[in-house]
Amino acid sequence: MKLLILLAMLTSCAAHPQNLLGKMFTFPQETSTAHVRLTTSRQNLNAVTVCLRSFTDLKRDHSLFSLATPSKFNDFLIFKMSTSDSFDLSARDFSAGFDGLEFKQNTWHSICATWDATSGLTQLWLDGKPSSRKFTSLGSINGPIIIVLGQDQDSYGGDFDVNQSFVGMMSDVYMWNNVLSPCDIQSYVDDLNFPLGNVLNWKELSFQIIGKVLIEEKQKLCW
Ligand SMILES: *[C@@H]1O[C@H](CO)[C@@H](O)[C@H](O)[C@H]1NC(C)=O
Repeated sequence: MKLLILLAMLTSCAAHPQNLLGKMFTFPQETSTAHVRLTTSRQNLNAVTVCLRSFTDLKRDHSLFSLATPSKFNDFLIFKMSTSDSFDLSARDFSAGFDGLEFKQNTWHSICATWDATSGLTQLWLDGKPSSRKFTSLGSINGPIIIVLGQDQDSYGGDFDVNQSFVGMMSDVYMWNNVLSPCDIQSYVDDLNFPLGNVLNWKELSFQIIGKVLIEEKQKLCW
């Protein structure tokens, strides 16, 4: 009996890291609740790179990566705008728009975003192609971090808007506390050797699923 209770506790906790190589999160429904919460013990970031791959048929605004601290809900945010070719990136609640990018529906895209606290510069890499480098904010990201996939945090850990939710698939989520070089970003895009994320690592990911989000094998197409 004690063993059963222990097992139940272990499985419901689910915070132990998992290797998700070859897998993806499927967000099959438009809701204001379903999301994945990613856990990291890092609390102080002077630079950020986030890389992920996403597949969606959404035309509307949607959040791809939402990092909040108690004082800043958009401490680091990757946001796809409804305009087909534009993104918005935020660091420390300040955002910059990125336009003229080749974003297609129903296609896997590799999306990397970088930011550096010293220069305040932010950049987006879509499928290995760099955007303009734009100013968002100086100063570091501080405080206990909550990272959410699938929803946009409008408060610390909550206040989701169904009209900014993500529907589709997401995979290969990594985060570093430095700005990756263009060569490392290209290696990520090509699925070659790149430095494993030291803030988030898809091969050792601590996370919690809330609502209808599935972990599935990435589909390999048969031509
Ligand atoms: C979401 O968008 C729909 C269609 O534009 C609108 O009718 C609805 O009020 C929006 N919901 C929220 C919570 O903003």
